[in-house]
Amino acid sequence: MARPMATVLITGATGGIGTDIASRLVAEGKNVYVTGRSQQKLNNLIDQLNPMKTRDDQIIGQFQFDIGWLTDIKREMPQICKVPFDTVIFNAGIMFPKTPRSANEDDLPWMEDTLKTNIVGHFLMARHLLAEQKQSIRFVCLSSVTAKFPLRWMRWKTSPSEFHHFFARSNYFTDGWTSYIDSKLAAIVMAQWLNKQDNKSAVAVHPGVATTAIVLSIPENQRKILSPLSRFQKNDGTNVCANNVINAALSPDDFTNTWICHDTVAIPRLSEVQKNSFMDFLHELTKDFM
Ligand SMILES: NC(=O)c1ccc[n+]([C@@H]2O[C@H](COP(=O)([O-])OP(=O)(O)OC[C@H]3O[C@@H](n4cnc5c(N)ncnc54)[C@H](OP(=O)(O)O)[C@@H]3O)[C@@H](O)[C@H]2O)c1
Repeated sequence: MARPMATVLITGATGGIGTDIASRLVAEGKNVYVTGRSQQKLNNLIDQLNPMKTRDDQIIGQFQFDIGWLTDIKREMPQICKVPFDTVIFNAGIMFPKTPRSANEDDLPWMEDTLKTNIVGHFLMARHLLAEQKQSIRFVCLSSVTAKFPLRWMRWKTSPSEFHHFFARSNYFTDGWTSYIDSKLAAIVMAQWLNKQDNKSAVAVHPGVATTAIVLSIPENQRKILSPLSRFQKNDGTNVCANNVINAALSPDDFTNTWICHDTVAIPRLSEVQKNSFMDFLHELTKDFM
C-alpha cells in the first residue's frame, strides 16, 4: 500500500525539478507548501500553481527564506512547524554559486555555501520538524548519483571536530564538485539518520538528470569535458525527475541499491564511525539555531 500524502513541504520549488514536483502534486489535489529564497519567484510560482487546484479548500502555501542562512531558518521554522506535514521533500540545492555570500557573523560565515545550503540548512529544518511534529512524516532527501563517484568517501572524517575544517571555505571557485558530492553523500547519511527517528521514514533519491540551473552553473569548460558522458546518460527532463521523487515519497518500500533510490541502510563504503561523526558534527553545529 502506498503511503498517505495529503500535505507536502517542498524546499527550493521556484525552479527546475522542485517546480514540477509542486505542479504535479497540486494537480493531484494535495496541499502543497513551497519554499524559495526569492519573493518574486515565489509569487510567480504561486500564480502558476493556483489555476491547477482541484478543490476549493486545497491549500497552496509559501515560505520565503534562504536555506543558506541558518538565522533565517531559525526565524521561519515556528511558522512552518504549525503545518502538519506528512511529506517533506528536501529539494533545494546549489553547485557552483555565482558569488560567495557576504560574511554574517551570526551565521557561520566560515562555512562553504554549497554544503551549508544543500545539507546543513536542511538538517536544521529537519531538527525543528522532529522537535515539533510528532506525527508520521516521510522525508525525501534529494541526493545525486555523483555521491557514488569514487574515492570522495575516503576523505570523510572519523571525529566530529575534524568536519569543521572539512566544511570550511577553501578554494572557493573550484569547490563546486567536491562540496556538491559531499553534500549529496551527506543527504544519504541524513536520510539514514531520519529513518531511525520515531514515527519518521526517509529515503535519499537520485532524481535522474535534467538540464536545470544547477547543471548550467557548472563552468562551461567543465561541461564541455563532461559532454561525452551524455552518450551514456540520457537527459530525463524535469518532469521525469519530479515523478521519480514523488514515487520515492509514496513508496512503502525500503529501497535497495537501485539507480533511482539510494539505499539508506547500506551506504557504500562509509563506515558507521564516519556517519556517526558527521551526524554529531551537524548536531553540534546547529545547536545555537534551535
Ligand atoms: N538536475 C539534475 O540533473 C540533478 C541530478 C541529480 C540531483 N539533482 C538534485 O535535484 C535538486 C533540484 O535541482 P534542480 O536540478 O531542479 O536545480 P535548480 O533548477 O537549480 O533548482 C534548485 C532550486 O533550489 C533553490 N535554491 C537554491 N539555493 C537556495 C537557497 N539558498 N534557499 C532556498 N532555495 C534555494 C533554487 O532557487 P532559485 O530559483 O532562487 O535559484 C531552485 O528553486 C537538487 O538538490 C539537485 O542537487 C539534480
